[in-house]
Amino acid sequence: MDEVLLVNEVGPRDGLQNQKVLVARSDKLRLVRALVDAGVRSIEATSFVSPKAVPQMADADELFPLLPNAAQVDYSALVPNLRGLERARAAGVREVAVVLSATETMNQRNINMSLAQATAVCAETLQGAVGAGMRTKAYVAVAFECPFEGPVDPAIVLALVEQMVRAGAREVVIADTIGAADPRAVAKLMGRCAREWGADRLSAHFHDTRGFALANAWAAMEAGIRKFDSSLGGMGGCPFAPGAAGNLATEDLVLMATQCGFKTGIDLGLLRVAIALAEDLTHRKLGGRSAAWLDKQAQLQPVAGAV
Ligand code: COA
Ligand code: ZN
Repeated sequence: MDEVLLVNEVGPRDGLQNQKVLVARSDKLRLVRALVDAGVRSIEATSFVSPKAVPQMADADELFPLLPNAAQVDYSALVPNLRGLERARAAGVREVAVVLSATETMNQRNINMSLAQATAVCAETLQGAVGAGMRTKAYVAVAFECPFEGPVDPAIVLALVEQMVRAGAREVVIADTIGAADPRAVAKLMGRCAREWGADRLSAHFHDTRGFALANAWAAMEAGIRKFDSSLGGMGGCPFAPGAAGNLATEDLVLMATQCGFKTGIDLGLLRVAIALAEDLTHRKLGGRSAAWLDKQAQLQPVAGAV
């Protein structure tokens, strides 16, 4: 089998936005370069949000035009509204993502809008992006459980996905923002979404709060999903969602997918180099579930690219 699994690296956005240390633009570029060197070809690089809401992303306008290997890498950016879209367009962004949370309270906390307002703003932003010839993605956040309102009815998620698709989202990312989903819930929801809109149109975004991220990714793979968000070293969280721990670690996803016969194009040895850099930049120990095993393999074969 050499089926492709597409890894969309979200460390530079979802990972960094939550870090206390402000990372310099030149260091962000070094991190992205290290990811590209490791073979990553799809990266959510930044967000064009209010700098007051997320100070770490305040340099998006200057950062984006400097991203390396722009012809070979699919870079995307998150935009919360038309203002963000305009900034992204001016910076040369070719793919934007909007974020719609599935509950009232989460939209309030994240973007200061009601669910209805957020749905309308996401729809107008998507339409604007399509009009500007950009590729489009919509996140449905807290798709399984909301930190404020509890479990989310799958019927609500399905309805929001439909509205985003109608508004022009080429892809919809089902996001377990606080890492509360379990494999059975994932199989059910992703299965229903895949039957409704086709697996090609969908992607999944998991957090590892309860240690289920990899199991959830496998459940989504069984439902036919072949595109996943993940973050190097599991770096991440959400500043607006209490309890959201790190993301599904890219190295865990790549290791599992590769061992199961999928191709990701990502070299784990070189990915470890990028993770070490991210640790330096954030002053934190990073690493997914496979960290100890990968370290051991690297000691046995201390050649970059060998693991
Ligand atoms: N980029 C930069 N600045 C923006 C902006 C954008 N996309 N959208 C709004 N602003 C500015 C406004 O100009 C205003 O500036 P001022 O205070 O200097 O006048 C300020 O932000 C507030 O704007 P307002 O329209 O009143 O929005 P708000 O305060 O209700 O904030 C968002 C709404 C969406 C802009 C803000 O909540 C946000 O950026 N959230 C992003 C959250 C996020 O990134 N979450 C993680 C990803 S899931
Ligand atoms: Zn996330």
